[in-house]
Amino acid sequence: MLRTHTCGELRIEDINKKVTLCGWIQKSRDLGGMTFIDLRDRYGITQLVFNMDVDAELCNQARLLGREFVISATGSVIERSNKNSKMPTGNIEIMIESFEILNEAKTPPFTIEDESDGGDELRMKYRYLDLRRNPLQRNLEFRHKMAIEVRNYMNNINFIEIETPVLIKSTPEGARDFVVPSRMHQGKFYALPQSPQTLKQILMVSGYDRYFQIVKCFRDEDLRADRQPEFTQIDCEMSFVTQEDILNTFEGLTRHLFKKFKGIEFDTIPRMTYADAMKYYGSDKPDIRFGMKFVELNNKVKGKGFKVFDDAELVVGICVEGCGNYSRKQTDELTEFIKKPQIGANGLVYIKYNDSEIKSSVDKFYTPEDLKNIVKEFGAKNGDLILILAGKREKTQIALSELRLEMAKRLNLRKENVFAPLWVVDFPLFEWDDETNRFYAKHHPFTSPKLEDIDILDINPGEARANAYDLVINGVEVGGGSIRIHNRNLQNKMLKKLGFSDDEAYKQFGFLMNAFEYGAPPHGGIAFGFDRLCAVFSNCDSIRDFIAFPKNNAGKDVMMDTPAAIYEEQLNELGINIMLNVNTK
Ligand code: AMO
Repeated sequence: MLRTHTCGELRIEDINKKVTLCGWIQKSRDLGGMTFIDLRDRYGITQLVFNMDVDAELCNQARLLGREFVISATGSVIERSNKNSKMPTGNIEIMIESFEILNEAKTPPFTIEDESDGGDELRMKYRYLDLRRNPLQRNLEFRHKMAIEVRNYMNNINFIEIETPVLIKSTPEGARDFVVPSRMHQGKFYALPQSPQTLKQILMVSGYDRYFQIVKCFRDEDLRADRQPEFTQIDCEMSFVTQEDILNTFEGLTRHLFKKFKGIEFDTIPRMTYADAMKYYGSDKPDIRFGMKFVELNNKVKGKGFKVFDDAELVVGICVEGCGNYSRKQTDELTEFIKKPQIGANGLVYIKYNDSEIKSSVDKFYTPEDLKNIVKEFGAKNGDLILILAGKREKTQIALSELRLEMAKRLNLRKENVFAPLWVVDFPLFEWDDETNRFYAKHHPFTSPKLEDIDILDINPGEARANAYDLVINGVEVGGGSIRIHNRNLQNKMLKKLGFSDDEAYKQFGFLMNAFEYGAPPHGGIAFGFDRLCAVFSNCDSIRDFIAFPKNNAGKDVMMDTPAAIYEEQLNELGINIMLNVNTK
């Protein structure tokens, strides 16, 4: 080894030891008689000291060292006169006797510190420098520990990790596939898995009754802070189980991880039906760290001459504690917020209950008695603010959900280090799409309807519920899964409802349906979004900070500069004759 110790290791007990450290120069300070250098590696920072009186030549050489130079330095551990209690190595420093430059470095384009001065794009371009920063190193280390803990836990309960291929046939999970052209079979394509869904089901047919895999998945979809085109799942499947068994098994894993990494013990994780989640929170992933449950007002407010409410499919509101004294400016800000195109509400009605007086933006239409009744409906107290939206049911629920989150943010109710996991269960089986005028599978086409809802599949498919569930933590969908269909006929029926002809269904999923004819056990499973799980545990909104080399918001890796054109020769070999923006050699 070129070093005897790491830069995070030496303490007061090590005084007088002769040591060699290797690392990057974080910063140096030249105080004339003395030069101090902070040397950094992934374990920490240690102060090196060069003394003009001891070795003037060495000190002069040290003054020439630039930021991020890689050096190896040898010297003795001494006690610091000026101790730094904020650093684990802050009681000591190394009086350097010799050093070697292992490599020089250009001046980095941004500071390699906990709070860097570099913008997003710049840090992505120089990701290797960004990855030197403490927060990112801690995140990747955490991710590693999480993966080890998941593997151990799953191993202990008899799951085995089985790798499934990356070059597969398209599996529909609601996004577009990334495709890979085949050279040997020109004009044909592999698809990268959106998840190993069909393969894990086939493993159940093969008898591997407890499978898991920490696995890369690929989805060509619009990106957000919690979405990457290439992400990782903890993908799991079990045979001979009911939904209850799966929820209990993975509640076990979730509780174990919370205990291990956060020191938090949960008795059980609460459950909420999808219908209730939408009714009371306007979202299938409610953040239940705080209240502000929706109160529907259709019965209370219609028929009083206020057209907006009279014409609305839904009138619904929330009560925000302690905001009854909001000024006109503040309520105007909230109106602006809900009118933003991404939220899309038309207007906001408020009722302020302040100084024991009830005032509203619709005083014209409602008597003081009416308003009192509405206030009562919310259980509002003096000092509270009621915010009401009206319109088409789903759109209004979604907009009010955004407003609820915004109010929680303003009131600091989305507390870090408070964790509120929740199972959302009984998802609908199908989702209607107005644009294409057809049903889509809400989860995926292999999800089993609830047995008691099979009869309504033909009469009212939109009402059928699925044996499908999501794990939500603090408003983030961390995982999702379902009990699967294991009967070929039911699978056929399901695909028909989704608009597949027999021919298409066979072409796309024949392999799975054939497998179902050879003894498919009842089975089900779940997949956790591993990047999201790491981010949520760390109170972080962006999964990018937990991925070593993520794509930017435009789906690009700006460090490698990809996606990129390929050589014409390659295109020819692949039989892709469309002339793209081709590089020539
Ligand atoms: P689903 O599509 O719900 O289910 O995905 C499971 C979990 O994966 C995470 N996730 C993502 N994370 C980052 N970037 C993305 N683009 C992204 N897309 C999804 C989410 C999500 O809850 N095969 C089924 C699982 C099953 O039925 O067993 C599936 O993939 O946290």
